[in-house]
Amino acid sequence: MQFRLFIVLGNGGAAGRAYVRSVGRPLGRPGSAQSVTVRRQRQIGARDYDPRMKRALLLGVVAALLVRCGRTTEAPASATPAATPKAETPVAAWVPGLGELMAFQQMRHAKLWLAGEAGNWKLAAYELDELREGFGDIARLHPTHKNAPVPIDQAIETIMTEPLEQASQAIAKGDLAAFRDTFDTLTQGCNSCHQATDFGFNVVQRPKSNPFPNQDFTAPH
Ligand code: HEC
Repeated sequence: MQFRLFIVLGNGGAAGRAYVRSVGRPLGRPGSAQSVTVRRQRQIGARDYDPRMKRALLLGVVAALLVRCGRTTEAPASATPAATPKAETPVAAWVPGLGELMAFQQMRHAKLWLAGEAGNWKLAAYELDELREGFGDIARLHPTHKNAPVPIDQAIETIMTEPLEQASQAIAKGDLAAFRDTFDTLTQGCNSCHQATDFGFNVVQRPKSNPFPNQDFTAPH
């Protein structure tokens, strides 16, 4: 398109030459390729040149737009005219899949355990809250799942509400034995839901090691 614009400008040759004369010293030897390039750049960059140049520029823009319009109307006959143009997907509209959101839950589940084992009850409370929020997002974004025979939002409500509450109480008391019990109950909840949704092959458990070497789980003193 820019190329076509240049052609139109090139047609205003007389005006272009007059302009180059009025600003003085064209760079490059006259008539050389470099000289021509410089002239064209100046013609486009200058603000107050000859009105004829302005007209030439305007014509150039119109010509470029026409070329564009021409391309649009050349669409193949098979295209349905009534079809709304497919909107470009904005980045903000990306919705993580249920599997991706579950992977976040898996991380929080592991961190919850590591925080509780370290006696870092503030961190444990935080991770439990993150788990809750994660389930909130899951229920909102994926109330149903194509392969699951039960609605995801209802399954979360029925299966997870009580275990989350029990874990929350154990954490509030800073009771390690109760925390371990409630963590296992919570984990059973995860697995019950995997079974209920036909993903029973997906089994979660107490973490056997710490996969987060870059985080200090011990309570700050
Ligand atoms: C609503 C029922 C439900 C609950 C509650 C639930 N899950 Fe899931 N989970 C699913 C479903 C359904 C999938 C498969 C989603 C998919 O891949 O489309 C899944 C997948 C997963 C995966 C596999 C993700 C991957 O990419 O490997 C993990 C890990 C997981 N869940 C962990 C958990 C943990 C940890 C909990 C408990 C804190 C939990 N889930 C609670 C239904 C549930």
